[in-house]
Amino acid sequence: MKKIFSIVAISVLLSACGSGERVSKEVFEEVNEAMEVKKLSEAEIIDAAMVWGDSISMEAQQQLVNQLQQAISEKGIPGAIEFCNVQALSILEDVGKPYGVEIRRASNRYRNPADQPTEMERRYLETYEYDVENGNPLAPNIQKINEGEELLYTKAIVIPGGLCLNCHGEPGKEINEEALKVLEELYPEDQAKGHKVGDLRGMWSIKIPKKEVVKRM
Ligand code: HEC
Repeated sequence: MKKIFSIVAISVLLSACGSGERVSKEVFEEVNEAMEVKKLSEAEIIDAAMVWGDSISMEAQQQLVNQLQQAISEKGIPGAIEFCNVQALSILEDVGKPYGVEIRRASNRYRNPADQPTEMERRYLETYEYDVENGNPLAPNIQKINEGEELLYTKAIVIPGGLCLNCHGEPGKEINEEALKVLEELYPEDQAKGHKVGDLRGMWSIKIPKKEVVKRM
């Protein structure tokens, strides 16, 4: 089983790399052309991507919180945990689609293993952790990735209030028995409990293709 998986994984990786290179050259030329026609500088594109990151992360946050609150009022906390388990990632996908961006949340203390940080994301998380611990202001970051074809926007997610602690706080205290049981069932490796208000919970990580930004400038 493991072997089959790795063969499939390798062939997927290989085909992704192969087509990636071709697309990459086309995209590169397309972006260059559009930049010339529109007389855009690299700095202007990065500034615009920063604005995108700020507003898209706000929109995503709002969507999640709205739908979370609705799920809590309809199904209670344990039911809302199941709702997050099924819906959180697809809600983010839906928010990102119209912009052509990929939105995720990454955390060093992840609940969903899909939110485990990449090497680069880990570095930003460590910086945000340091800033939170030292009371420094938290600023979002933007970084060129994939040979400058894409921009990675990151922004810290701090626990703003008690609502979050129903599922991310102290078990037996803020997380009740019933909710704990559901969490243990769905996330046996959960690391996202035991938080306090003001803690770093994770960060937004939004991959923004330069061509999407240029297209709309
Ligand atoms: C009803 C329970 C519940 C509440 C309340 C809740 N969360 Fe979560 N949270 C979850 C679940 C479940 C996941 C995993 C979702 C998944 O499987 O994709 C999660 C995942 C996350 C993640 C992604 C990183 C990870 O650990 O996988 C962040 C960031 C996060 N929550 C922040 C918050 C913040 C901030 C609040 C308060 C505004 C909050 N949560 C309130 C249940 C909750």
